[in-house]
Amino acid sequence: MSQRSTRAGVFLPALILVTSTVCLLGAAVWVEADRKPPPRFPLTLFALARSEDYLDDEVCAGCHPSIAAEFPRTYHAAHVRDTKLPAEKRGCQACHGPGQNHISNLEDPAKIGQHIVRYGKIKPAEASAACMRCHETVMHSARWARTAHARNGVGCTDCHTVHHVRRSSLVAEEKPASADLRGALSPMYS
Ligand code: HEC
Ligand code: HEC
Ligand code: HEC
Ligand code: HEC
Repeated sequence: MSQRSTRAGVFLPALILVTSTVCLLGAAVWVEADRKPPPRFPLTLFALARSEDYLDDEVCAGCHPSIAAEFPRTYHAAHVRDTKLPAEKRGCQACHGPGQNHISNLEDPAKIGQHIVRYGKIKPAEASAACMRCHETVMHSARWARTAHARNGVGCTDCHTVHHVRRSSLVAEEKPASADLRGALSPMYS
């Protein structure tokens, strides 16, 4: 056999192999993208919302006056008050979800938690997913999921309180001081 035909004999199968690998990889990426799981509660509230489902914060204040009155002094106020933010990242509904279904379904108390994000009643992982809508860039869901906290069912709202105004970011007295937690947390921020 001449050297040239040997080269062609190697080149062709190699080309076919490379081409088919590229195609397979492409297909795998495509299938993966297609299989991306649909959002789960409470992210569904945001995913299914129409723009008219987001109300003015003044509407919330009408029925939740003390929370609304204290809100400007909480650490998130500065970050969610900007009127240029999209509705789902602005004000109360940035964390609690669109308000329209909440106020149209108030007559059934058992179902209140299906229409508004009720942090005191949902699972830690659900609460964390809602916080991650904004904190993903720093905390990274995948990385967070591997921490001892997440694996043991501890969520953001077990340590951080949002409406508490006397201290910046941590639940008051009954929780450990942030200095005690810092050591345990370092892997999360590394
Ligand atoms: C017409 C009155 C009304 C309006 C307007 C209203 N709510 Fe409510 N909301 C209620 C009632 C009643 C409950 C149930 C009270 C309870 O169980 O403590 C509730 C419960 C909640 C809860 C759950 C509280 C908990 O126990 O965890 C949240 C969160 C909430 N509302 C947020 C909002 C937000 C955000 C808005 C504005 C988009 C809003 N509400 C507008 C009446 C209202
Ligand atoms: C950054 C996220 C965030 C924002 C913004 C936010 N909340 Fe909350 N809300 C929470 C969390 C978390 C809780 C659970 C208690 C806590 O951490 O303080 C909560 C609890 C509540 C509760 C139940 C508290 C109780 O003790 O009955 C109500 C009602 C509520 N929020 C209404 C509002 C209203 C009205 C606004 C806008 C003025 C608002 N929230 C803005 C995250 C948020
Ligand atoms: C609408 C976007 C948004 C959501 C939703 C949100 N945050 Fe934030 N949060 C911010 C921004 C912006 C900052 C300031 C920049 C930063 O630290 O990333 C902040 C800051 C913080 C801080 C630092 C406060 C300090 O004292 O420096 C904590 C703690 C925090 N958020 C916890 C939470 C928790 C817990 C939730 C879920 C209940 C939550 N956030 C949901 C936007 C958000
Ligand atoms: C085990 C308790 C704990 C859990 C769970 C937790 N944090 Fe924290 N977080 C802390 C402590 C402690 C600090 C440092 C606070 C300080 O220095 O005052 C902190 C700081 C932060 C800060 C401010 C970071 C900075 O550089 O200023 C943000 C934002 C934050 N956490 C968001 C979150 C979010 C979002 C989650 C859930 C995905 C979460 N945390 C889960 C305890 C916790």
